[in-house]
Amino acid sequence: MQNSTPSVVILISGRGSNLNALIDHAKQTGAYQIRAVISNRPAAAGLALAQSAGLDTAILDHTEYKSREAFDSALAGLIDQYQPDWLVLAGFMRVLTAGFVNRYLGRLVNIHPSLLPAFPGLKTHQQALEAGVRVHGVTVHLVTPELDHGPIVDQALLQVLPGDTAETLAARVLGLEHQIYPRAVAALASGQIKMVNGKLEGTLAPALVHAIQ
Ligand code: GRF
Repeated sequence: MQNSTPSVVILISGRGSNLNALIDHAKQTGAYQIRAVISNRPAAAGLALAQSAGLDTAILDHTEYKSREAFDSALAGLIDQYQPDWLVLAGFMRVLTAGFVNRYLGRLVNIHPSLLPAFPGLKTHQQALEAGVRVHGVTVHLVTPELDHGPIVDQALLQVLPGDTAETLAARVLGLEHQIYPRAVAALASGQIKMVNGKLEGTLAPALVHAIQ
């Protein structure tokens, strides 16, 4: 895709553990360069993580905007200053407008803590417990205007164990998130996998196939 290292901007809202995994992977492999980390919440712990890694950070507080459109438009203006090849959502807890999504279509990726298309939206681990599923997991997908429905890049799964709670499931799924997200972002950034006419083309290396744990 590019001759130089692909660049990404990462959007966060909170803790930033996926951000941390993405930073580590970039340091270890050089697969992508993180141009900036943007948070819609001023108190997001991930901002300090990014700063201590020497990354540019910015805050765009959504509560200061009157509408979703106004916020998304300001966000796009900020992102475009960094001219990233890819936009990576890492625990960014905002529904994005179709206008925003379409602007970055094919280069906007998200991680969602369920095996999509099961359990879109919030409280995915509770949803999984209530549905009584025996397996649960995580999905990396490209973002399209329909929430949590874009083409699936990678998934990893685990067994739901007797006695599991939303918290224990969340903790185990998070471990899987940290394994699959950086490598999926690297595969997308390199052009190994890309969206063509709304579908994904290309395959992930076998290292990205995970057994039930
Ligand atoms: C993760 O579970 C992610 O899948 C979801 O929000 C959580 C963010 O966690 N979208 P962190 O901020 O990356 O630690």
